[in-house]
This record gives sequence, C-alpha cells and structure tokens, in this order.
Amino acid sequence: MKAIVVTEQAAGTAGMTLAERPEPEAAGNDVLVEVHASGFTPGELTWPSSWSDRLGRNRTPSIPGHELAGVVRALGYGTTGLSVGQRVFGLTDWTRDGTLAEYAAVEARNLAPLPGDVDFTVGASLPISGLTAWQGLFEHGRLRAGQSVLVHGAAGGVGSMVTQLAREAGAYIIGTGRTADRQTALDFGAQEFLDLQIDSLEDMGGVDLVFDVIGGDVQKRSAGLVRAGGTLVTIAGPPEARPADGLAIDFVVESDRAQLGEVVRRVRDGRLRTDIGNVATLDDAVGAFNPTERVKGKTIIRVRP
Ligand SMILES: NC(=O)c1ccc[n+]([C@@H]2O[C@H](COP(=O)([O-])OP(=O)(O)OC[C@H]3O[C@@H](n4cnc5c(N)ncnc54)[C@H](OP(=O)(O)O)[C@@H]3O)[C@@H](O)[C@H]2O)c1
Repeated sequence: MKAIVVTEQAAGTAGMTLAERPEPEAAGNDVLVEVHASGFTPGELTWPSSWSDRLGRNRTPSIPGHELAGVVRALGYGTTGLSVGQRVFGLTDWTRDGTLAEYAAVEARNLAPLPGDVDFTVGASLPISGLTAWQGLFEHGRLRAGQSVLVHGAAGGVGSMVTQLAREAGAYIIGTGRTADRQTALDFGAQEFLDLQIDSLEDMGGVDLVFDVIGGDVQKRSAGLVRAGGTLVTIAGPPEARPADGLAIDFVVESDRAQLGEVVRRVRDGRLRTDIGNVATLDDAVGAFNPTERVKGKTIIRVRP
C-alpha cells in the first residue's frame, strides 16, 4: 500500500516521504480500516511514541497521522461492535503505525460509527480537536453552566472546538490569540477576546476555568487567574504554576467512542463546525505538510477520492 513514512526525527515534516509499505493485518480486537481521509498533528513528530514502541524499541520507518475516517474492511479475532463495510472515524494508538496510508489497523474501541451524511474529510478532522476539547472541558475541567472559561488559542484547532462546546454548555467564553485571530474567535462563539499581543492577561478578572493550548509563559501567568475552586487545564505540557486555590491538570487526549458520537452528533445538527484549511491527496501530502505559505485551519489528506 502507499503510505507516508518518516525515519529521522531531526528532519521533522521535511523528512516525510511517500513509500510502499506492507498492508497491516488486523490483530485481536483490531479493525482493518480502508482509510478515506486522514489527519496529522505537526507536533506528533516530536513525541517519542512516533519513533518507538511501548518498550522503547525503534519502530521506524513509521507512518504518522492518528486521525482517520474510512470503511471497515476486516475484523481481527474477537473484534465486536463494528462490522465489515461500516463507515467509521476515530483516533488511533500513538505507538502504532498511523493513518497517512491506504490502510490502518486500529483497535475497535478507538473507533466510532461515522454517519452516512458526514463526509470522510470532516470525519478525519474531528477526533483530536473534538475529543481534546470534550475531555478538557467536561472530564478534567468539570465545567458547569454559568461558569467563565478563558480559552487560549481560541481560533485554533482545539481552541475553536473548546469555544463552541463550552458556549453550548452555557459558559461565558473569553477567547485569546493573536491580533489577527479576534474575528475568528468571536465567530466561533467567544463573547470577549483578549489579544495576547496587546492586552495584559493580568488585567482580566478571575475565571472558573482556563483551557490552555499554548504553554510557557501564557500558561504560567494564567494560573493566577483561576478563581478559588477552579481549574487550569492544559494540553501543552506539565503546568509550571498552579492556581493558589484550585487544580492544574495536564492531559493527553484518548479515544472514546461515546465522546466521538457526541462530537459528530453536534457536527450533523450544526452546533459544531470544524476548521479545515486545506485538503490534499496522499500523493501530495508531503508538500501539504511542508507548505511554503501559512495555511490557516487543519490540513486533511483525502486518501481516496
Ligand atoms: N495533550 C493533548 O492531548 C493535545 C491534543 C491536541 C493538541 N495538542 C497540542 O496543543 C497545541 C494546540 O493544538 P491546535 O491543534 O489547537 O493548534 P493550532 O490549530 O495551531 O492552534 C493554536 C492557536 O493558538 C495560537 N497561539 C499559539 N501560540 C500563541 C501565542 N504565543 N500567542 C497568541 N496565540 C498563540 C495559534 O496562533 P498561530 O497559528 O498564529 O501561532 C493558534 O491560533 C499543539 O501544540 C498541539 O500539539 C495537545
């Protein structure tokens, strides 16, 4: 099968090549998915899991990309809950070959049914941003209606999902980002925008929840904004500062069939919209992930037309 592979961490996305790889086999509890569309997060090439297996053994050449939408073509021994021919989408294991390929073997529990009226391209754009937003807000952040949320990077992939889901849940949203992000953040539902290039975080009043996607100094300074009993949730690495009277939680997103269902239901009925910036073929994927001009929104690889 055709796949994008990487062999050298230092090369980053410039080291991606299109190659022939053996078609994967579905192991026990796996599903073999014919990939129709695939999503890739640039940060993943810096993670150890992209280069080694769970025992730390080199697993290169590895196939990156961990979001997919496609059709089930085979079931491994003992696999239940999904059937051959079914449309699915989901988030695959970080330490296995990924989804920038014509086929991927995925644990069934990492997949959810993709309704027939949701395009594969849209399906592949949802798992990481949708699940990260859901888990950060409702599992780790324990968000309740009426609370205030400071959403860093509110115009980005995760931040735009956080903004929409939190707004729907009845929260008051202050989005942040660069000057150019203001209108996008407001369009996704933020009621206020704090320009990190101009405004000072410290001038803000307190909030119940901070959702950080930026890390570093922004994350550190945000801890002081959390009200008593509130939470700083971050996906940008271990927090360097903690709220004086609250929690600081960093987490890595996990796949979850029920939550994928919640996300896609909202996409179907118009409550949630995804931000796709570019769609390219597998043959053109290396160029798409090494753009000469900045692309706003997520790049999705349409593996099959
Ligand atoms: N732990 C996890 O489970 C998990 C899950 C998903 C993502 N992540 C990580 O979370 C981060 C965000 O992911 P994403 O997909 O949302 O990325 P994204 O689409 O690039 O969104 C990030 C947003 O934050 C803005 N931003 C970044 N640094 C900023 C700064 N210093 N000041 C103002 N605005 C800033 C970006 O603006 P510009 O584009 O102008 O820089 C962009 O609008 C990535 O590092 C990703 O690897 C972690």
